[in-house]
Amino acid sequence: MNTAARDAGLKLLREHALIAGAAIPAGANGIAVDDPATGEILGHIPDLGVAETDRAIQAAHDAFPAWSRSDPHKRAAFLREWARLIDENTEGLGALMALENGKPFEEAKGEVTYANGFIKWFAGEAERILGETQDTPLGHVILTFREAVGPCALITPWNFPAAMLTRKLGPAFAAGCTAVVKPASQTPFTAIALAELAYRAGLPKGALSVITGDAATIGGVLTASPLIRKLSFTGSTPIGRKLAEQCAPTLKRVSMELGGAAPLIVFEDADLDLAVAETIKGKFRNAGQTCVCPNRVYVQASVAEAYATKLAAEVAKIPVGPAFEDGVKVGPLIEDKAIAKVEDHLSRVQTSGGRVLTGGARHALGGRFFQPTVTLGGDDELFRHEETFGPLIPVFPFDTEEEALGKANDSEFGLASYLFTRDLDRAMRIGRHIEAGMIGINTGLISTAVAPFGGVKQSGYGREGSIHGIDEYVDIKQVTLALK
Ligand code: SIN
Repeated sequence: MNTAARDAGLKLLREHALIAGAAIPAGANGIAVDDPATGEILGHIPDLGVAETDRAIQAAHDAFPAWSRSDPHKRAAFLREWARLIDENTEGLGALMALENGKPFEEAKGEVTYANGFIKWFAGEAERILGETQDTPLGHVILTFREAVGPCALITPWNFPAAMLTRKLGPAFAAGCTAVVKPASQTPFTAIALAELAYRAGLPKGALSVITGDAATIGGVLTASPLIRKLSFTGSTPIGRKLAEQCAPTLKRVSMELGGAAPLIVFEDADLDLAVAETIKGKFRNAGQTCVCPNRVYVQASVAEAYATKLAAEVAKIPVGPAFEDGVKVGPLIEDKAIAKVEDHLSRVQTSGGRVLTGGARHALGGRFFQPTVTLGGDDELFRHEETFGPLIPVFPFDTEEEALGKANDSEFGLASYLFTRDLDRAMRIGRHIEAGMIGINTGLISTAVAPFGGVKQSGYGREGSIHGIDEYVDIKQVTLALK
């Protein structure tokens, strides 16, 4: 047990929210945040409501004119200083995240690095917010400017407490937007620690608030406010749909990174060892609690038994345990109902004729731990429409390419998908025809700051990261010059 790391995490834990840089303490009626590994209460956050959210919005509105008109090179310098402080605090931030989220400490540190990649990338983007010039048929010249959208509401999930925040704040600050953040109540401390570092890096007061409390109340105020000009949300499709509806009366810009039910297809010509290794890498990030992880694996019938047997043998070796135990690769699930969902999905495979190859039950550690599980066969219907969000890999055999593509696309979701084959023609054919925003070919890892992240269909709209991420935070203004 790495107690020194755990202590470093606790040192960064602050039991307060932040309005315009000022701490609002949790007080007596705070919301408890627990360690998913033990259920132990780590601390409390304030249960803020309408009045405090309004104050944060007003602060973001007041700070916007100066920040949006500031020199973009200065914003880039601020982002680089923030990134430097995050690098300096990787251990503590990783530990804090591991405490509140439960993901293994090494993985949590990896997320801090991933998260910081967005800040570094968007520091560069701040320096190249380019416009265009164009002659018109009327003899005029048009100049285009890409200007900050306005104060933003950013609502972030518990599964990536740092990366989902910086993927939004990086481009928002680069563009010159101010922000009010509502982090998930299960994992608020990482967001608060990151915000404090942003202020240490020189962010002007008011440019960022972190509001904690009831999601529906705070989300309601943020979406209703005419002062908020943009909402970016990462979370479930039903909540995303509701928030988008709430944004309609004020016609906010909206980007939505929502649920997925990612297919992973393995063809008989694939390198099976690679496919197994990459399936595991993709699936077990955050114990299977990611929107992009493979939710259903389709394997060509001639190699299905071989792939599933190898996969089960490797999955059986995965060390499960609390975040600070040495060598642990899979931690607990975030809450009790997450365990119940995995059990339900597993029983649906079994009652439809699938068999368990490894795992298949709650872990001996008890609490929110579940055994990494592989099944073979049964009905894939449920997995096309619902993400398990846990450490279960259901494998389903298929016969033809058309069948695999049909099953992959027979879902309302279209976030990530994965394909394993050595046939380049097939890779391109399927790659082009799969209905998803992101496709990994012969890899299970598709997330990096330089790749456009986002989905199609009910997985949402808008792109985060990459050269496209900044577009979500700028409006294009044209100035027409009549020259003599
Ligand atoms: C998510 O699951 O919401 C994001 C995963 C990622 O950034 O890779």
